Amino acid sequence: MQEKSIGIFDSGIGGITVLQEIIKVLPNENYIYYSDSKNNPYGDKTKEEIVKRCEEICKFLLDRQCKAIVIACNTASSIAANYLREKYKNVPIIAIEPAYKMVYDYAYDGKTLVMATKGTIESERFNILYHKYNNHKTELLECVGLANIIEEGNANTIKDYLEKNLEKYRGKIDNVVLGCTHYPLVQKEIGQALGNNIKFFNGANRLAIHLKNVLEKQDLIYKGKVKGKIIFIDSSRKKEKEERFFKFLSRSEIL
Ligand code: DGL
Repeated sequence: MQEKSIGIFDSGIGGITVLQEIIKVLPNENYIYYSDSKNNPYGDKTKEEIVKRCEEICKFLLDRQCKAIVIACNTASSIAANYLREKYKNVPIIAIEPAYKMVYDYAYDGKTLVMATKGTIESERFNILYHKYNNHKTELLECVGLANIIEEGNANTIKDYLEKNLEKYRGKIDNVVLGCTHYPLVQKEIGQALGNNIKFFNGANRLAIHLKNVLEKQDLIYKGKVKGKIIFIDSSRKKEKEERFFKFLSRSEIL
């Protein structure tokens, strides 16, 4: 019998930054990665639209016998995770969230910029997290359109966007929370635009460890020694998405 997979999804290829961390701790699992690039960006969509897309993707992954689902999109997690957990009670659903608690734990005194989509920043789930761990030196920045620009991958457009939108924070920020899974792909460029020695916070590594713990507890870990396979599916069916995905996966630095 074929070993079951872990399903993972994002509005595009940004969730690769989560998958990379997961593979470090669970290298032998099989993965099905679903990139919903036909419907991105999620950040500017209504709650109802996001929930509907997430539900359809989960159904697609569960029809392919996935034993767990990772929501590798902060926007989808903050809006749809509770709903999906309620709906699919028998399968662990692990959801990324902006690593704002990590700032509280490790860099409480620093001036902090949380970068995320409009959907994430305005969500109830993020606001609960923010008010719980508020260090009172935090700016919240809705990066409208940034995930989409990263998805398209034009280095000059990305640089222009970051220079324009981060200019007012230049030299004034110590910590950046990368609150969208696309943003670690341009961490270096964000650092250059902010012009400081920035500490970056990204929840992907913690999510990977949490996923491993959950699978172990439920006895769902693959115990064999064979390295896992990765299947990539993109809703816009563009061949170049797949090529970029596998190119990124084999490199630690992107763009
Ligand atoms: N990677 C998604 C996130 O983490 C991007 C959302 C979007 O498509 O706007 O929020």
